[in-house]
Amino acid sequence: MALESTDLTPRVGSEFRIDREALLSGAHARKIRDLLVARGVIIARGLHLTDDEQRQLARSLGDLRLGTVKKEGDEGLMKVTFDEKVNPEYAKFFFGSQLWHMDGTYEEVPPFATLLTPRVLSETGGQTEFANNYAAYEDLPDDEKTFLDGLSVVHTMQAALFPGKRDCTVEEFALWHSYPNRVHPLVWHHKSGRRSLVLSTSASHVVGMHPAESHDLLQRLMAHATQPQYVYRHAWQMGDLLIWDNTGTMHRVLPFPAESGRQLHRFTLNGEEPVSAAA
Ligand SMILES: [Fe+2]
Repeated sequence: MALESTDLTPRVGSEFRIDREALLSGAHARKIRDLLVARGVIIARGLHLTDDEQRQLARSLGDLRLGTVKKEGDEGLMKVTFDEKVNPEYAKFFFGSQLWHMDGTYEEVPPFATLLTPRVLSETGGQTEFANNYAAYEDLPDDEKTFLDGLSVVHTMQAALFPGKRDCTVEEFALWHSYPNRVHPLVWHHKSGRRSLVLSTSASHVVGMHPAESHDLLQRLMAHATQPQYVYRHAWQMGDLLIWDNTGTMHRVLPFPAESGRQLHRFTLNGEEPVSAAA
């Protein structure tokens, strides 16, 4: 069976259909990657992949990330949950996932893509949204594109997390502040020739710009990039497989009851190119 797909919205998101044997064979990896990069996020329903199958698929699509989740001891599997008993290392940071962000903006080479499958779902809320940073860039006026092209942005953990916890303690803020910062161009010139905004709540300020102007610019771009025409909202069903291109999209989870036990299993693919400015 060949890979078939249907666009879920005009600018972002496709559903694809493939039988599980063909999916796991790796024979369609090129086509799946092309669809992913073209559409920002792709989903398939009713697959019910095991952890081993999800890992095998991840390996067929790219370079499976092992390092940052080594403590889980499970070859790249990260359990995405607010439950500290399940994932004590990360649960205390996951509230930040409710704000629009790209993953790994603190790294020189941010992750390429992530594969998610649900294990426990909340009866209410908990949908995941994706915003297409390619499309948002493409629609900007030419003079603004030129202006943004020359800018660099500092990404910090405190910028990413403070908006999600304005009543944090001094100790919490100090912990976030202890993480390394990273400067990226505001516009990513991908090897493919496409361009996207490198936008995320982690974007603290524009290098060399007055703080007030920088704040206004980043707020305005965030409002632009998250307009409904650039956003796909995924309502989860058990059995889903979802893959997003982290280099050209932002994502966030909508609020859900903490006691629901909502849990997704995630495997991440390492990035394949640094964020590059215009040559
Ligand atoms: Fe994330």
